[in-house]
Amino acid sequence: MERKKITISDLSRIKSEGGRIAMLTAYDFSTALVLESAGIDIILVGDSLGNVILGYDSTVPVTMEEMIHHAKAVRRGTRYAFLVADMPFMSFNIDKAQTITNAGRLVKEAGADAVKIEGGNETISAMIKAVVDAGIPVMGHIGLTPQTATMLGGYKVQGNNAAAAKELMRQAAVLEKAGCFSIVLECIPDVLAELISKKMKIPVIGIGAGVRCDGQVLVTHDMLGLYERLSPKFVKRYAHLAKEMSEAVANYIQEVKDAKFPLPQHSYTMKKEELEKLGL
Ligand code: KIV
Repeated sequence: MERKKITISDLSRIKSEGGRIAMLTAYDFSTALVLESAGIDIILVGDSLGNVILGYDSTVPVTMEEMIHHAKAVRRGTRYAFLVADMPFMSFNIDKAQTITNAGRLVKEAGADAVKIEGGNETISAMIKAVVDAGIPVMGHIGLTPQTATMLGGYKVQGNNAAAAKELMRQAAVLEKAGCFSIVLECIPDVLAELISKKMKIPVIGIGAGVRCDGQVLVTHDMLGLYERLSPKFVKRYAHLAKEMSEAVANYIQEVKDAKFPLPQHSYTMKKEELEKLGL
């Protein structure tokens, strides 16, 4: 069967049929090609870019220019997956005009299909509504929102008491009403994520939110074991690529030092008569 580009309708159909949506992050062309060929549904150019690619301590310093630069590269490697780009901290927090302009840049300049915005309070949901009204699909993100982790008391589970759980349920409903086509729930108890997923008509994608969400997302560098500085409980490592890469690099270094690389099959030859013409 011919493969077709995934749309928002496909994502909501997956939910209504009881299926699951698979989403991963990418920040460059070649990773996007790998995710695509494996059949991923959604590729997220996450602002986790700040941590795993740019070496910042958090996602806070990530700029619009950095997001656009990386999202453009991912766009070139993405054909079928639905492409979402994160709006970085302070690109959607000031006023509606600036928020719409920045969301528009991620769509027009970088080629994203949609943007993701962290937060669910009144200010943020008003910004989200403005972006949706401007014709740009928005994925919400509540629970542990890394851009405002300081306000949340650090990187820790959210919604684990009745009041906080109620507030997250309220925010999810507000985001659905504001027009989000999907929301991400990060680092909340599995039973709460299940309740929200059942209540919402839009697909709910979990990260550290249990198995009963409509889909799952992980940072690709975490799940491939490429970035091992942080190890949240919710990450499953499907590979240990940092270890494999390190072994390969050590092997290369040794072969260079021992003059065992390159071999003749990695080298170019010159005809003997041409060599003789050099008269050396
Ligand atoms: O930036 C990111 O990668 C994210 C995911 C972890 C959901 O927001």
